[in-house]
Amino acid sequence: MSPVAPDETFDWDALTAHAVEASRRAYAPYSSFAVGAAAIVDDGRLVTGCNVENAAYGVALCAECGLVSRLHIEGGGRLTHFVCVGGKVGTDPVVVMPCGRCRQLLWENGGADMEIMTVSGLRRMSEVLPDAFGPDDLA
Ligand code: THU
Repeated sequence: MSPVAPDETFDWDALTAHAVEASRRAYAPYSSFAVGAAAIVDDGRLVTGCNVENAAYGVALCAECGLVSRLHIEGGGRLTHFVCVGGKVGTDPVVVMPCGRCRQLLWENGGADMEIMTVSGLRRMSEVLPDAFGPDDLA
């Protein structure tokens, strides 16, 4: 699928800078891979998150988990624009793709039309999680 037409009015560099800033807060002593996520909510708010690992490795929380929790605790709403960055601690983070589980989280909270900056350019959620299972399937 081809990327969505860029929204010239949206400042992806600024949102990415917030994701990079969030990645600096990562707690990643086991993988040494710091991730930061940043998104805009439909009321204009900014929400961010970082990964938080655990000695029980499988319990690690992805950056997107923190972002979604923050979305709800700070008033809820729908995510409209999202970007995620990551890299080995001490290196410059680059855009990374959300893992499969986190794509599902983003689908729930942003829906098919949410714009996401990816490793292959600007896309919509419907492109990175096609034929998704979601709230409509429970209706
Ligand atoms: N990670 C995220 O925070 N988000 C993703 O979408 C992919 C992976 C984190 C989990 C773990 O702390 C580290 O990256 C290495 O997998």
